Amino acid sequence: MAVVSKGLEGIVAAETQMSFIDGEKGVLEYVGIAIDELARNSTFEETVFLLWNQRLPRKAELDAFNKALRAQYDLPPFIDGLIAAFPKNAQPMHVLRTAVSAMALVDPNPNSIEPAEYRAKALAILAKTGAIIAAFDRRRRGLEPIKPDHSLSFAANFLYLLNGSKPTPTMERAFDVCMILHADHGLNASTFTGRVIASTLSDIYSVMSGAIGALRGPLHGGANEGVMVMLEEIGSVEKVDAWVDDALKNKKKIMGFGHRVYKAYDPRATYLKTLAEQLSKDTGNEKLYQMSSGIEKRMHDAVAAKGIYPNVDFYSATTYHALGLKLDLFTPMFALSRISGWAAHCIEQLAANRLIRPDAEYTGPHEVDYTPIDRRG
Ligand code: ACO
Repeated sequence: MAVVSKGLEGIVAAETQMSFIDGEKGVLEYVGIAIDELARNSTFEETVFLLWNQRLPRKAELDAFNKALRAQYDLPPFIDGLIAAFPKNAQPMHVLRTAVSAMALVDPNPNSIEPAEYRAKALAILAKTGAIIAAFDRRRRGLEPIKPDHSLSFAANFLYLLNGSKPTPTMERAFDVCMILHADHGLNASTFTGRVIASTLSDIYSVMSGAIGALRGPLHGGANEGVMVMLEEIGSVEKVDAWVDDALKNKKKIMGFGHRVYKAYDPRATYLKTLAEQLSKDTGNEKLYQMSSGIEKRMHDAVAAKGIYPNVDFYSATTYHALGLKLDLFTPMFALSRISGWAAHCIEQLAANRLIRPDAEYTGPHEVDYTPIDRRG
């Protein structure tokens, strides 16, 4: 009988040069550079270049990359019209998955996996995702979408498209750092989904829509929304301890805690915690941050011994809230950044492809007689 690894835990299914994770020590590196270094010194655009080329760009290369990305900010009229036709009460992750998938319909050569074309498609999808999310959000609020500003960075352009005003430098930087921190993370569930689809030599639109679908689940990227719902349910700092104790007693999962790989503090959470604290002070709304750090403290006393610490989603909820984002845009923010990691992994997968096709241990019956329909009980 084969050994089944439920959830594929511990199975090494690919080689990668994108991100290195040491879950015991709480280390995350992109192409060998510590995430903390990138969060302090880099930009999202530079980080994407790093992931797509396995090295930091020279100045001229980064300028060219920025120019190419910004040139792709606008949505094709077909996608704009499609978003206008979506029901206003649709969920943004469903909107995003559908619109990214529909981009294949206006690509004259959607199935090409020729390396240069594949990268160009990845760049276009990455550049337009912000406009898709913002256009839908504005339309559901009864507002017209705004045209992208090609002079703005990826982070600033998105906040501009969403809010109709240019962000302050602090907001732009905070959002940019969120994008850096979410860009890649080994063979997580959505990246694995993307690599499986890429390995069949299917198109990049199928890759991206499949990965968006995997990310949406509450055990993966959807947890940041779950954290916010939990904070709203708890309601005040005073109620935190009793709420956490009750949840743990009832074997309820606390959203934003625990990780398949990290058994120490998620290094992305460390940085997001600082960001959340700073933004909460800046906006004069510290309640959510105080509740979050209260939950962290209570959880630490109760379950840190089991290796359960805050993950990337825990403090990103407070951070996004402080940036003025609505609850159902939290997971799309994850996707907005992670598209870069999915693309990097699929470029890597295609460069040395082998169809990903694991086995399953059959546990059902054998040699069962076929019973005609009129004799079935
Ligand atoms: N709250 C309370 N207990 C937890 C939590 C949690 N958040 N996470 C794990 N545990 C406990 C489990 O109850 C279980 O305890 P037991 O051994 O006494 O039964 C043990 O830790 C192992 O948990 P599993 O769910 O089996 O571990 P797995 O590696 O499959 O789960 C996961 C990882 C899915 C992330 C889990 O920790 C979880 O559900 N967390 C909450 C959702 C979440 O925050 N997801 C985002 C992850 S980060 C990301 O995807 C970007």
